[in-house]
Amino acid sequence: MSFYLTTPIYYVNGEPHLGHVYTTVAADVVARHMRQRGEDVFFLTGTDEHGEPVAQAAEREGVPPRELADRNAERFKRVAERVNATNDFFIRTSDEEHKAVVTEVVARMKENGHVYEGTYEGWYCPRCADFKTDSELIEGDKCPIHLIVLEREKEDNWFFRLSHFQERLEQLYADNPAWVLPPNRYNEALSFIKGGLRDFSLSRARISWGVPVPWDPEQVVYVWVDALFNYYTALSYAREGEDLTERFWPASLHVIAKDILKFHAVFWPALLMAADLEVPRRIFIHGYLLMDDHKMSKSLGNVLDPFHVMDLYGTDALRYYLLREVAFGQDGSISPESFEARYNTELANTYGNLASRALAMIGRYRDGTVPDAAPSAELAAEFEGLPDRVCELLDGVQVSAALDEIWQRARRLNRYVQDETPWQLAKEPDQAEHLDQVLAGVAEGLRVVSVLLHPWMPESAEKLLAALGREDRSLEHAQFGTGAGGAQISELGQLFPKVEASEPPEASAA
Ligand code: MSP
Repeated sequence: MSFYLTTPIYYVNGEPHLGHVYTTVAADVVARHMRQRGEDVFFLTGTDEHGEPVAQAAEREGVPPRELADRNAERFKRVAERVNATNDFFIRTSDEEHKAVVTEVVARMKENGHVYEGTYEGWYCPRCADFKTDSELIEGDKCPIHLIVLEREKEDNWFFRLSHFQERLEQLYADNPAWVLPPNRYNEALSFIKGGLRDFSLSRARISWGVPVPWDPEQVVYVWVDALFNYYTALSYAREGEDLTERFWPASLHVIAKDILKFHAVFWPALLMAADLEVPRRIFIHGYLLMDDHKMSKSLGNVLDPFHVMDLYGTDALRYYLLREVAFGQDGSISPESFEARYNTELANTYGNLASRALAMIGRYRDGTVPDAAPSAELAAEFEGLPDRVCELLDGVQVSAALDEIWQRARRLNRYVQDETPWQLAKEPDQAEHLDQVLAGVAEGLRVVSVLLHPWMPESAEKLLAALGREDRSLEHAQFGTGAGGAQISELGQLFPKVEASEPPEASAA
C-alpha cells in the first residue's frame, strides 16, 4: 500500500531549531517504520518561502527575499540530513514547478465559483500570516503569539468562500472520527467549524513576494494557500519525468504542531474540496517543546541548538531524547539536564551497556557464536505480540508510546541478565545448557529490540544488529524467537560513550 506523509514546510525567515527538528524526526520515525512494514512510502518535508513572514525578515536584514530564502532553505535541508531524516524530496515553495501548479489550482477554485472579490478590513499579523479577530488580540492590540502590535488593515482582495464548506466539513468530521488526532484536537477543530466559518482572503495586495494571482497579477496568492498546496504539488515534480500524484494522493498523514491546526484541519480540506481534490486521510497534531515553560521559538531566543547537541552526543541520542522525554501529542519541557540524564541512564546503560555486556559474554563463554538454544518461555512471553502492538501504536502516530513499549523490553532484558547472573552460570559446568539459554535469550531480545528501535535510532540499531551478526531489519524479523541463534558476533564498540560533564548541550540564543 502507498503511504504518503509530510511535515509542515518551515518558514525560511529564520534558522532551523529543535522545534522543527522535533516534527521532522517524529515523521521520519513513522516513515521508516512504514518502510519496515513493506509499505510504498513517500515522505516530504521542505520550506515555506513566500509571504510577509519571509518578506519582512528579509527587509529587516536588508537582503532580497530570494537571498534569505536560499540561505535558510539550505540550512533546513542540511538539518534534515543531519538528523538522518529519510525524506524522499525537499520542496521549496519558490520552485517554479510548485508555483505553476498553485496557479492552476487557484484558477480552478475560481472557475468552480469559490472565489470572489471583496474588501478585507481587520487585523492581520504578518508573522503568523494570519487574520485575527478582535477577541483573539491581547491588550494593546497585540498578536497573542508574537506579542507585536498589530495594525488594522483595509485591502481589496480575493476571498475564498470558506463559509460554503461548513456542511461538507462537518460531514467529513462525522464520517471520519480519527481523521484528526489526538481526539482533543479533533474536538477543537470541529468546534471551530461549528462556531461558524467566515470567508478569508485568498490574496494579498501589499506584497509582491509570492505566486501572482493568475487573473489579477497585481496580487499574490495568500501565503497559507500557496504553502498548503505544497503537499499536493510536490508529487507532480519530485521525480523527474514522473508524476507521483496518482500513486500517492491523497496524503496518508500530515504531522504538524497545534499552532497550525486551523489551517490544516479546517482551511486545507475546504481548499481541496474547492479544487475538486481528495482530502488527506489523517492529520496528527503534536504539542510544543517547551524550555523554561515557554514554547521554544526563535523570537523568544530560548532554543537549543540541534547541531550542537548532535555534535556532542550523536544524532540517535537526540532523536531518542525528543520522542522519549515528551509524550507525543502533549506539550512538554526539555532541558540540557534531562537530556544528559536520559543519555546516561537509558542510552548508555540500559541499551549500550547491556549490548556490550551480552556481546562480551557470548565472546568469552561461547567463543563468539550465539548459542543455538531456545530462549526461556518466560522471556519469550514478554515479547509476545510486541511487533503488532508497535504497529498498532504507530498507526495512531503514537511515537512516544510505541518507543516506550520497546524500551520496556530493553529494561526487561537488563533485569533478566541481573536475575540469571550468566557470569555465575559460566563457573558451573552443569549449568552449560542454562547459560546457552540465557545468552541466546538476551541476544534474541537485543536483536528484536534493535529491529523495532531502528526507526528511532537507525545508526545505533544498525551497529548492534551488525555486531549480532543478523542485519535483517524488516518487520517480519521482529518476532522473538526467529533469529539470533548460531550467528557469529563481532566487535561493537561503545554505542553511547560517556560525554564529559563539562560540555552540556547549552541553550543558545539563535
Ligand atoms: N510555514 C508554516 C507551515 C506551513 S505548512 C503548509 C509554519 N512554519 S514554521 O516554521 O513556523 O513551523 C511551524 C511548525 O514547526 C510547527 O507546526 C511544528 O511542526 C514545528 N515547531 C516549531 N516550533 C516548535 C516547538 N517549540 N515545539 C513543537 N513544534 C515546533 O508554521
